Amino acid sequence: MQIFENHFLKDLNTFGVAVYAREYTRLQSENEVRQLLDHPAFNKGRHLIMGGGSNILFTEDYDGLVVHMDMQGKEVVRETEEKVFLKVQAGENWDDLVDYCVARGWGGLENLSLIPGQAGSSPIQNIGAYGVELKEHFHSLEAIHKKNKTPVTFSKEACGFGYRNSFFKNRGRNEYIILSVTFVLDKQPIIRKHYGSLAAELADHGIVQPGIADVREAVCRIRRRKLPDPVVLGNAGSFFKNPVVPYATYNRLRTEYPDLVAYPEESGFKLAAGWLIDRAGWKGYRNGDAGVHEHQALVLVNYGDASGKDLLKLASAIQQDVQAKYGVELQTEVNII
Ligand code: FAD
Ligand code: EPU
Repeated sequence: MQIFENHFLKDLNTFGVAVYAREYTRLQSENEVRQLLDHPAFNKGRHLIMGGGSNILFTEDYDGLVVHMDMQGKEVVRETEEKVFLKVQAGENWDDLVDYCVARGWGGLENLSLIPGQAGSSPIQNIGAYGVELKEHFHSLEAIHKKNKTPVTFSKEACGFGYRNSFFKNRGRNEYIILSVTFVLDKQPIIRKHYGSLAAELADHGIVQPGIADVREAVCRIRRRKLPDPVVLGNAGSFFKNPVVPYATYNRLRTEYPDLVAYPEESGFKLAAGWLIDRAGWKGYRNGDAGVHEHQALVLVNYGDASGKDLLKLASAIQQDVQAKYGVELQTEVNII
């Protein structure tokens, strides 16, 4: 395990924010994780565990140790007539994993195609897209407790998954390093094509009975059209979560805005934050190099040299405006560092 000083992070966060880490290391095995936990650099100050850097906004240089997860490997740990249990090391690229499963005919992750980042980060916010959430195909994960250094296996129930939420964003925040995740996949895939834009995309291509490869391709096409590629334009996907509001708030807004986009939930309605921000006039807005994407108002973008503070200032202005116009609070999805 090697520690580098004054490490440039611009290429390691998808926002492309130009910041330095005081110290930086890359871990490739569980053995190196254990070395890290005993290392003075880890124990003397702050540290940040980092995957693909696609859900992080750095607002300043990181005055501590950035730990980059780079453990690779996939293994079928159990198989039944119907299911495959695939254990995946934390540093595996998420979309490569989806591709790997689809190529073998193992269903479950195809709606989550093309989400950036790593397998090890996927349970943290229970990634979701096009009508599917990670929790539906999550079996368990292995983690190590940072302070007492004990390995722990988390079942699905212990992870407390919710919309863009889990135990690891709440009571377990910053307590564990996730080492691997085991997914449970279907040998006879169940096709989920109910999400509006996915159903429309399949229909547009005349696909009536799609297989998982068709779903993957359709999702990739929609995403390439709508979401900016971080390699070309810095971003971290949706900057805010879609807010869940009580029925009374929904009814009030619906009366005022009959075309409001909302989805019924157990405790009220989930509003499309992109619609709220778009309707408030922010889509395509740009101030210096910080902006709101021209095709998706929920995505903030860095046109080149925006700092984390520029992007955060823009996010705050949007939050205040949405609060003033609709009486709705937007919470950030992106982790602000
Ligand atoms: P990072 O950004 O590196 O880290 C995220 C958090 O997890 C940080 O708090 C970090 O400390 C922690 N962490 C990372 N790895 C570990 C580990 N091994 N152990 C402990 N803690 C860890 N998300 C969706 O849910 N749905 C989408 O459709 C979606 N689309 C996106 C599209 C684009 C273009 C972009 C840029 C992002 C999108 N995202 C989406 C957000 C993002 O890709 C996901 O949240 C992804 O899971 C983040 O993975 P990462 O490896 O980049 O995590
Ligand atoms: N909309 C607008 N204007 C916009 C953006 C959206 O009117 O600028 C409307 C759309 O027309 C649509 C609705 O809002 O009717 C929802 O839009 P979309 O299908 O693009 O989904 P989203 O709610 O904006 C969520 C996730 C995405 C995920 C997509 C697809 C959150 C915070 N975001 O976006 O996840 O890919 O659904 O399932 O839940 C991410 O988390 O980073 C992310 C990209």
